Amino acid sequence: MENKTQSCKRLVLVPCPYQGHINPMLQLGTFLHSKGFSITIVHTHFNSPNPSNHPEFTFLPIPDGLTEHEILSGNLVAILLALNANCKASFQQCLTQLMEQEPQNSISIIYDDIMYFSEAVANYLNIPSIVLRTVSITNFIARSTVLQLLSKGSFPFPESMSRDPVPDLDPLRFKDLPISNFDTYENYSKLVVNLHKVRTSSAVIWNTVDCLEQSSLAQIQQQCQVPIFTIGPLHKIATAASTSLLEEDMGCIAWLDKQSHNSVIYVSLGSVASISEKELAEMAWGLAKSKQPFLWVIRPGSICGSDWIELLPQGFIEAIGERGCIVKWAPQRQVLAHDAVGGFWSHCGWNSTLESLSEGVPMICWPCFSDQKVHARYVSQVCKIGIQLENELERGEIERAVRKLMVDDDGKEIRARAKELKEKIEVSMKGGSSYHCLNELEKLIRSF
Ligand code: UDX
Repeated sequence: MENKTQSCKRLVLVPCPYQGHINPMLQLGTFLHSKGFSITIVHTHFNSPNPSNHPEFTFLPIPDGLTEHEILSGNLVAILLALNANCKASFQQCLTQLMEQEPQNSISIIYDDIMYFSEAVANYLNIPSIVLRTVSITNFIARSTVLQLLSKGSFPFPESMSRDPVPDLDPLRFKDLPISNFDTYENYSKLVVNLHKVRTSSAVIWNTVDCLEQSSLAQIQQQCQVPIFTIGPLHKIATAASTSLLEEDMGCIAWLDKQSHNSVIYVSLGSVASISEKELAEMAWGLAKSKQPFLWVIRPGSICGSDWIELLPQGFIEAIGERGCIVKWAPQRQVLAHDAVGGFWSHCGWNSTLESLSEGVPMICWPCFSDQKVHARYVSQVCKIGIQLENELERGEIERAVRKLMVDDDGKEIRARAKELKEKIEVSMKGGSSYHCLNELEKLIRSF
């Protein structure tokens, strides 16, 4: 009887159509499905997830109204504002149809905070909703400060202030604030104000772990009117099938199998960031000079002015021989869990950060934009398990950072702290804070 009641509950999940947001939402869906809920993923045509990887879910595409021009612009802020304006009506229509097919009161919505149009529709149709936040609490707090500073006209700040500490946000400096370069400050504010607000939703799910963000969590709990469930790291609560938009090159696992314990530095700048030809050359020679084996993800199109690796410096491939492996996209969670991987050079997107910390892999932090700057500072100065590259990329500095992280004696403490943090995260999952929050979340959803 209980199973029947459980399977009657349908959860409509609304991911934001970027890799760093699709992953945690589908992971959450996998977990909730394992608890007996039926899962429907309502998604945009733009960056659609691959339904064939998840036969257990129902996928419902909705028109997103994005033009080719908007997509090609790469202006994330403009794209996200447009999605919120364009998807409301189509989402409402989709839900109305779903409600005709389902028993009364059986539907609830979980939406990515960026897809805030979902909350308005849920409220209009009288459907319970919960918001999923996929980036750190610390970044949320820093973004609130940015909003206050923007309203006072404090941006752009003078270069001389860039290393000054931001009051109440220690150890963040002005240069670490998560400001977006994609659009005007006005549009950025509009987006952030909307995604920060919880109007009628019943709870907030956060992809983080209490032990990582204790003081930020305490601060946000005082301000938030609804329960917060810190259930992360989501990739660890359920083994989801591949959630990648790009094809994962499994050949790199065979290459890792041939490398010795903790010897490989894994390099990836995530799903959005791009670099210049000059930065590419410094990265390449820095890695070569470090003499450590490396697995390097170079996403097609991520080097300005080329399709893939055409702009790698001459002589580099010959110089590294078998010591380097370059792929277009890797099965990153598997890579970070591999015995051969001893360090991660990352842009510090929140998923990559959580994935590294939960495997005890110390990091070289090279943030490219927005929240990545907050996470890089946090990983290097608060968790103290990373080395941040602060200046323009330079091969000598890269070589030294890689060697310190991976082999030199002065990196011993960083490596030891990374292992300790991994254990703390494991405790959170096995009977600790994340485990407890997951149980409470499940109870709340069943009570709707
Ligand atoms: C974007 C923003 O840049 C980031 O700051 C924000 O936190 C989320 O959205 P993204 O570049 O996608 O981040 O980085 P991240 O959050 O780390 O997510 C990337 C995901 O892609 C990770 O889950 C990672 O495992 C996966 N990945 C990356 C792969 O599976 N294979 C790869 O080769 C590279």
